[in-house]
Amino acid sequence: MTSDIKVSSKKISKLAINGASPVRKTLLPYGRQSINTSDVECVTNTLLSDWLTQGPEIEKFEKTVAQFVGVKYAVAYSSGTSALHGAYYAAGLKNGEEVLLAPITFAATGNAAHYLGATTAFCDVEPDTGNIDVSKVEQKINAKTKILVGIDFAGHPCNADELAVIANKHNLVLVIDAAHSLGGKYKGKNAGSLGDMSILSFHPVKSMTTGEGGMVLTNDETYFERLMKFRTHGIEKRHEKLVCADEDQGSWYHEMQELGFNYRITDIQAALGSSQMNRLPEFIKRRREIASIYRKRLATICGIACLSEREGVESAYHLFPILVTKEPVARNRKLVFEALRAENIGVQVHYIPVYRHPYYQDVMPEKPNCPNADKFYAGEISLPMFPAMTDQDIDDVVMALEKISAELLA
Ligand SMILES: Cc1ncc(COP(=O)(O)O)c(C=O)c1O
Repeated sequence: MTSDIKVSSKKISKLAINGASPVRKTLLPYGRQSINTSDVECVTNTLLSDWLTQGPEIEKFEKTVAQFVGVKYAVAYSSGTSALHGAYYAAGLKNGEEVLLAPITFAATGNAAHYLGATTAFCDVEPDTGNIDVSKVEQKINAKTKILVGIDFAGHPCNADELAVIANKHNLVLVIDAAHSLGGKYKGKNAGSLGDMSILSFHPVKSMTTGEGGMVLTNDETYFERLMKFRTHGIEKRHEKLVCADEDQGSWYHEMQELGFNYRITDIQAALGSSQMNRLPEFIKRRREIASIYRKRLATICGIACLSEREGVESAYHLFPILVTKEPVARNRKLVFEALRAENIGVQVHYIPVYRHPYYQDVMPEKPNCPNADKFYAGEISLPMFPAMTDQDIDDVVMALEKISAELLA
């Protein structure tokens, strides 16, 4: 797919894609976990304990995250994807109903609706954040809409207050996909504490990691009960909640009352999660420092733009997206992307709008009208961003972009 990429207006090119030396000898990844000896020690201690799964570490981890974020209930799941499935289930989503979301997200945010026999509808995004455009939400709501999802794209919290007003007015459940934003803030509140439920992901490139892992956060006891049951096969063990117990049933007795899944996280993962939570403030501080250096140094480079950070918001900077702005945007994005990779700068694109995936094209009769999302996708490139990045790493990214811009975008 890259064979047509050798392009330069200069006679002697300085670009690695044209055969010159790359800015770096080794690949700088776009994201990476940060694991230290205390993380390893916590995991080892759990491995040597009596419990590998469903032991004391899970509840401890849940309490730590709930306290940090400032919510009553936290239910750990095996991934962000299963957490979304749990949240939509807890919201009561059924066959024939619809989930309304922005298309600039990982497919999982939509997929969880389809797991439950529901459908998805897409609302366009703001061009400078990639988050749902609140002014366009109401026109997308119809009688089938059950859940409204706000996604904190790249770690920048979406406008949860305005989404909550719309959700209340139309009797919708508001789920915030905060997979990118743990450690971020919105109007003084912590990301993950907003909406009727918020979900997190602990995949290695996220704010902190448990390997695979996720969580649902809520202040609502009914959702909490449903989330707990759903993650463990729909099984109820508490005596007072049993529905079919008779006097011959002893203390072994339990009931599968609903169709749930095995979506449990392990104690090993939860131990890593608690240890990582101790380090979260330091991770976010470094991510924000890197973002601030990028912003200053990229401001003078031609043909690209950074995203906005809204007033009252502190992004967790899971990603640092830039937009290629020089027309033709899609063609230039491809050139810049491949040229950065040739310089050993590990860039990514976030995201292919969900409705462009073949599965969604099959299940949606018409392509949704989301011109901003299409334009955002055409220009987006995510630069390397992770807490262990050094100042030299940042320099390498900037230098690569400077020379690429000078040859391809000036
Ligand atoms: C916005 C968003 N939501 C949900 C998920 C799913 O999380 P997980 O990979 O933990 O299943 C991801 C994962 O990348 C994501 O980026």
